[in-house]
Amino acid sequence: MELIHEAEALRAVTDARRAAGETVGLVPTMGALHPGHESLIRRALQERAFVVVSIFVNPLQFGPEEDPATYPRDEVGDLALCDRLGVHAVWAPSEAQMFPPGTDLPSPDPGPVGDVLEGAARPGHFAGVLKVVHRLFDATGPCAAYFGRKDAQQLFLVRRMVAERDLPVEVVACPTVREADGLALSSRNARLSAEDQDHAGCLFLALSEAAALSRAGERDAHALLATMAREIGATPGAALDYVAVVGEADFQPVQTLEPGRTALALAAVRLPGARLIDNLTLPEPA
Ligand code: PAJ
Repeated sequence: MELIHEAEALRAVTDARRAAGETVGLVPTMGALHPGHESLIRRALQERAFVVVSIFVNPLQFGPEEDPATYPRDEVGDLALCDRLGVHAVWAPSEAQMFPPGTDLPSPDPGPVGDVLEGAARPGHFAGVLKVVHRLFDATGPCAAYFGRKDAQQLFLVRRMVAERDLPVEVVACPTVREADGLALSSRNARLSAEDQDHAGCLFLALSEAAALSRAGERDAHALLATMAREIGATPGAALDYVAVVGEADFQPVQTLEPGRTALALAAVRLPGARLIDNLTLPEPA
């Protein structure tokens, strides 16, 4: 496995692979890798001849109340995992390599969807995500990039950026990897106390109850929202940030579930140790 720091060296490696007729897959991450990331990497390795994992804690996507310096990091563990999985190259650039001073990199506009839900809680977050993802695509030149469904709004906005700019990258959506109790894996889970972890279960429980209701025939999104809010509200130590039901194709709020229109239930909660998000695809009404 090659460990690459410089953008030019990365480009030389992936250009050579493409010239040799190989397909290049990219898995963008902020490190502190866990089995959720691992599932994206395994999928990329199955589907592409040459796989690059990027590890970069992107300061542009942290909100005003968040500090990138305290984001969990585990460089030694991350490199060992990538090596063990058979990753071909890890790109771990410095901030100056990612965003070279004096160069005017594209700053794709997330638009109104970037200002709601996660965007409302974390102003500037999605502009920062799209800027770094665009730069990652540009520096790596992948034919496919792997993203987790856990970050549904991020996935939607990356897909829309690719479509709007006609970027030659296939965006592959991968299922959310969960703990046995349903809690979605996240680098931030490391910050949860044992008690927090217990309470964090309300997130998946709330989403599962919404899914069960819609499976039982409930088509009114407000009923699903009320159920989710009630479940989270009844959990000590967990503060509800938002619950939402949106269309997967446009990320607009859904009032009534309809056949043929895939809808997602989303929720965010604040626990003393961390703020967590999750989502589930709702069963379509018959
Ligand atoms: P990060 O939080 O490190 O996540 C990297 C990728 O792993 C994202 O596509 C995310 O959706 C996916 N992922 C995280 N937890 C997962 C889980 N439990 N199951 C499946 N996939 C999971 O998302 C980012 O980094 C950054 O915003 C990034 C795209 C790298 C841009 O900086």
